Amino acid sequence: MELAGKHLVLGLTGGIACYKIAELTRLLTKAGATVQIVMTEAATQFITPVTMQALSGRPVYTSQWDARMPNNMPHIDLSREADAIVIVPASTDFLAKLAQGRCDDLLSTLCIARDCPLLVVPAMNRQMWQNPATQRNVAQLRADGVEVLGPDSGSQACGEVGDGRMIEPEAAFEAICAFFQPKFLCGQRVLITAGPTFEPLDSVRGITNRSSGKMGFALALAAAQAGADVHLVTGPVALDTPWGVYREDVQTAQQMHDAVMAATPDADIFIAVAAVADWRVDHVAEHKIKKTGDGSLPTFSFVENPDILATVAKLPNPPFCVGFAAESGDLDVYGAEKRERKGVPLLIGNLGPLAFGRDDNEVMLFEASGTTPLPRAGKLDLARTLIAEIAKRAPKTGGALLS
Ligand code: CTP
Repeated sequence: MELAGKHLVLGLTGGIACYKIAELTRLLTKAGATVQIVMTEAATQFITPVTMQALSGRPVYTSQWDARMPNNMPHIDLSREADAIVIVPASTDFLAKLAQGRCDDLLSTLCIARDCPLLVVPAMNRQMWQNPATQRNVAQLRADGVEVLGPDSGSQACGEVGDGRMIEPEAAFEAICAFFQPKFLCGQRVLITAGPTFEPLDSVRGITNRSSGKMGFALALAAAQAGADVHLVTGPVALDTPWGVYREDVQTAQQMHDAVMAATPDADIFIAVAAVADWRVDHVAEHKIKKTGDGSLPTFSFVENPDILATVAKLPNPPFCVGFAAESGDLDVYGAEKRERKGVPLLIGNLGPLAFGRDDNEVMLFEASGTTPLPRAGKLDLARTLIAEIAKRAPKTGGALLS
């Protein structure tokens, strides 16, 4: 589970976005985190401690004078157990308090007495957010090492539209998960292809393959969580865009090639995970091809699609290129041969037809120095391991060809 073993203090402050914290708490506990809720008095006006206790499965603390702690010091003990404190929603007033180091209730005292990271998720009216005092306070908090998540832009509970709305619970959850990941790729720009391609035969039919896109999407998420700026070019898949990733949808191999070539100058690392169709028909029928009725069958002639990975790897100043190979057997032989043929320093091989659509995978790393098998793992865990392996090998500015 994503957050197994993590202990979080969620600090709720007064704001209508408190209702979103019920869902956030559920997401965090479902992911294995233990969640200790602490609320300001104002927060209890928006959602009850009873609701938050039921969802977190732990008693809620609201007062500095709460005598339930054996030593009567909740402001110390609650933070000592925590891997992080997340103030969500963080009101204008609470941000001001934090920036000034004031502590006049349990939650603010807990924050100043903490020995763990502090994250804040602002939620307020757009004028309150834009007010120079708030902007000064947020800048001060950032300078003090506080992680600021959001805010979002859009329609607000007060009826106005603008910046200041709390990010959605799912986004807050993903950002908290990302916070705990090591930043192997901080500042690196990563370009990834994923999914199958779809090569049309006529206006309704086409050729595709069984790639689900899960591995490429997991790598995109893992790279974003590792601090990279991620551009994902994907063929048709039924998957949500991973957190923090810029996504570009394409259909055909040629479109994928064009999108990748346009994005390559801005990439430090290129990871080609897509199962790109090798061929396309040289003439796509404009309308649906009809049966003739006399038993004669349609014939198609094919032309080869561009090899996106090999093309990028041959550029004069390529990003660090990583290929994937899905083989149906003899992985050892085909993987090593394919790495050389593609001209890439690293190729990740798997037994593709067995991996397609599955949630776990088993891969082997092929490089000039030899072969390394990795143990079977869920696609996100495996993706994180692969991102760490890629980060170890990729030069900070790209530019490595076959070594
Ligand atoms: N690839 C690519 N463009 C293509 C074909 C493949 O970028 N037109 C990339 C894939 O994304 C993958 C790697 O090349 O990273 C290997 O893909 P694979 O389909 O295994 O290789 P092929 O060259 O198609 O070899 P095969 O003859 O085994 O089909």
